[in-house]
Amino acid sequence: MPKMTFIERDGTPREVDAPAGLSVLEIAHKHGIDIEGACEGSLACSTCHVIIDAAWFPKLSPPSEDEEDMLDLAFGLEKTSRLGCQIVMSDALDGLTVKLPAATRNAAG
Ligand code: FES
Repeated sequence: MPKMTFIERDGTPREVDAPAGLSVLEIAHKHGIDIEGACEGSLACSTCHVIIDAAWFPKLSPPSEDEEDMLDLAFGLEKTSRLGCQIVMSDALDGLTVKLPAATRNAAG
């Protein structure tokens, strides 16, 4: 099974099992990683924002226009920011590393 690593807000890396076909958001929730994902993957929030490791960023399929629009609203946006619910794990992404942003806008924001 592929694995991926979440870098927690305090910098602690957590390597977890990442079943192919699940989104990064679903994988985070499975392992109790603190990503909100308020709209559960329907591209209506930006609370599943994660920052992709620079080496991995080019290996992901590019974001849709809707994802880019939502990302613009994310707090703490960085060059390699993506929405976690839009990244689907596959064997090719085995080893993917993403960082949790320092802060997120709350669901009401
Ligand atoms: S969970 Fe809302 S856009 Fe990803």
